[in-house]
Amino acid sequence: MKLWQKDKDALHAVTEFTSGNDRTMDLHLAPWDVLGSLAHITMLESVGLLTSAELKLLSGELKNLHKEITNGHFVIEPGVEDVHSQIELLLTRKLGDVGKKIHSGRSRNDQVLVDLKLFFRAEIESLTIPVRELFGLLIEKSEAHKNHLMPGYTHLQLAMPSSFGLWFAAYAESLVDDLICLQAAYRVSNKNPLGSAAGYGSSFPLNRRLTTELLGFEDLNYNVVYAQMGRGKTERILASALSNFAATLSKLCMDATLFLNQNFGFISFPEELTTGSSIMPHKKNPDVFELVRARCNDLMSLPNEVALVIANLPSGYHRDLQILKEKLFPAFKTLRDCLKMLHLMLSNIEVKADLLKDEKYRFLFSVEEVNKLVLQGVPFRDAYRQIGLKIAEGQFKASDQVHHTHEGSIGNLNNDRIMAMMESELKNFRFGDAQVAIEKLLR
Ligand code: ARG
Repeated sequence: MKLWQKDKDALHAVTEFTSGNDRTMDLHLAPWDVLGSLAHITMLESVGLLTSAELKLLSGELKNLHKEITNGHFVIEPGVEDVHSQIELLLTRKLGDVGKKIHSGRSRNDQVLVDLKLFFRAEIESLTIPVRELFGLLIEKSEAHKNHLMPGYTHLQLAMPSSFGLWFAAYAESLVDDLICLQAAYRVSNKNPLGSAAGYGSSFPLNRRLTTELLGFEDLNYNVVYAQMGRGKTERILASALSNFAATLSKLCMDATLFLNQNFGFISFPEELTTGSSIMPHKKNPDVFELVRARCNDLMSLPNEVALVIANLPSGYHRDLQILKEKLFPAFKTLRDCLKMLHLMLSNIEVKADLLKDEKYRFLFSVEEVNKLVLQGVPFRDAYRQIGLKIAEGQFKASDQVHHTHEGSIGNLNNDRIMAMMESELKNFRFGDAQVAIEKLLR
């Protein structure tokens, strides 16, 4: 028998295949689906598409459902396609035909769009918590170790003196720029697509401004075709924001594994934070850094994965978009876990003092010696030659003291400025606006 003859088994296979991972992925969307519906029915009543008695019934039941969901008592039953169908099913089981009325003037296409935007907003907010914590720790460590010098490298060759103060705070400042990109992703997520229906609007006199306000969005996706085009695009922008953090963390891990290597020996960790070997009894391996590095490198492929799934799709809804959930949803937790693990590791880092007293590092100070001559009036090129000759003749001696005073240098880290930037970027998100609206909607 052929598929299109719609025998029952084939139908079942198609339903299962097309639901795919939605029954688990959509659990993340459940509370947001309820909130989207609450806003939608409030608006429907305001334009005369529901009576106030119907609104009262429906919103009471949706609020109950929201409680059940947040208490972890929500499942998508076998045979039910997705979260939207499950919630409508629960409503009609409880309230009868009035439950079906919540779908006037909308499609699952804009329903999932608004769920995703609300979910992304919340995930972005919760991501900023471990980001801020790691940032704070990095600044704290930078201050604590600002006088501990370490080698700076270019081409992975000894270059100039650096410090642990610089090293830690470099990653703190990197997180600030990552946060700026995340803010762009937040702003893109913070626009209301609800009311675009299947992607072409509705002949009902929907009040899209009202649902925008009720859900605490900054603005609307006005054009209904664009609202639908935002699916995939939002995910791609978000993926690239996540991948920026991943790149920062991955580089930090690479540094840490290198500095922990015995030939460097700059840092160490308590034994319980490292792992042993089943054959070599002396081993203390940096597995946490390696796995964070691998997870983060993997996260960096996410923008590409999203871009390829949506490549060449014309405007309008396509079921392809559903796959993006399983790509993007787990990434938030992965990144949060990585941030938390790095926080744990770095909270316990031990830094070796007096590293640069070792003879093998003396050439790091060659530029310091050149600069001393320059300050005595010798032109830079001549001073460079003089020191170069001394090095070649084996006569080079240097003090291991550095006097760097300009902004962002060893002697003037400007961590206060970096902290101020972080605080101001965090404020710019205005998470409070969304929180206030959601609390009001649930009241
Ligand atoms: N599970 C679907 C998705 O994530 C929901 C929208 C279904 N819309 C449709 N036209 N089949 O895209």
